[in-house]
Amino acid sequence: MGEIEVTDGFGRTINYLRVSVTDRCNLRCRYCMPPGGIELIPHEEILRYEEIVRILGSAISVGLGRVRFTGGEPLLRKGFIPFLRKVREHFPRLTVSLTTNGILLSRFVEDLVSLELDSINVSLDTLIPERYKYITRLGDFKSVWSGILRALDKDLTVKINVVAIKGFNDDEFVDFVELTRNLNVIVRFIEFMPLGGGLWCEGSFISIDEIKKSIERKYSITPANLKMGGGPASYFRLPWGGLVGFIGAVSHHFCDKCNRLRLTADGRLKTCLFGGPEFDIKKALREGASEEDIASLIRRAILSKPRGWFVLKGEDREIMSRIGG
Ligand code: 5AD
Ligand code: SF4
Repeated sequence: MGEIEVTDGFGRTINYLRVSVTDRCNLRCRYCMPPGGIELIPHEEILRYEEIVRILGSAISVGLGRVRFTGGEPLLRKGFIPFLRKVREHFPRLTVSLTTNGILLSRFVEDLVSLELDSINVSLDTLIPERYKYITRLGDFKSVWSGILRALDKDLTVKINVVAIKGFNDDEFVDFVELTRNLNVIVRFIEFMPLGGGLWCEGSFISIDEIKKSIERKYSITPANLKMGGGPASYFRLPWGGLVGFIGAVSHHFCDKCNRLRLTADGRLKTCLFGGPEFDIKKALREGASEEDIASLIRRAILSKPRGWFVLKGEDREIMSRIGG
């Protein structure tokens, strides 16, 4: 895609939409949710698939040529694969990717392969089954791992996203990058962000500079001048050619390169992960808005994107499973 280019009030090109298809999740990660889960959005408030398809049509007309589906856990929503198929049919040139916790990945690998997704991101914060059980409260490491292996076996591009948490997985960074020696995965470390819902505290934060250093104690890494997926990760090569990415969401303000909007499962268009103005697309749709009306709403959202999260401190923060990361 990319023939239309839309910029926001600060000159940033906006070309990427993250769509949360459900707020439901089959895990209860400690940093994301309280033990009992969160209050779920009532069914009728969740965007129907047809509504998402309509919004995508408008989004593409505005210049958003890439979409990533997230959750909650997207593979949990009934009819998700037929929905993806529809998206593919309607918008053959749209770049489509998926973020999943991997629990259900195994059973959907063939479908995902046939959909020719750009890549899938699997969230996995530890390689130790007991730790995995602890951090996710419900998860079984083996299901995720077999899903990843199966996806790789079918030549899907898999990125493993690791939220770095001091005192939890800071002794596993080297093990994670070593995965890239024998498996065709890309490992990415994400700074723990102070979002609502979970166990974030100052002491649990590790910066990407520290993560990088702890890897460099064992291996030298060299910057890989690589732009992948248009996202905020910076990539490095390991001695054997493997790729490791770092997402310094907190320590490195990459807000000046932010290229995205987010659509929540209940149809609100968010201008920034950390807050900022939002636009109720669902309401507009259900009140009869046309494709062009939705497109102008999206343009308004783009123009009201805040300059960065540092101007938003103090606002209430939603949790990831609502916004979709
Ligand atoms: N900080 C960083 N990443 C987070 N995620 C959820 N909560 C946080 C947080 N506070 C991650 C999940 C998943 C992605 C969608 O967001 O682990 O990888
Ligand atoms: Fe589910 Fe993701 Fe939240 Fe974990 S972080 S509970 S996988 S939405």
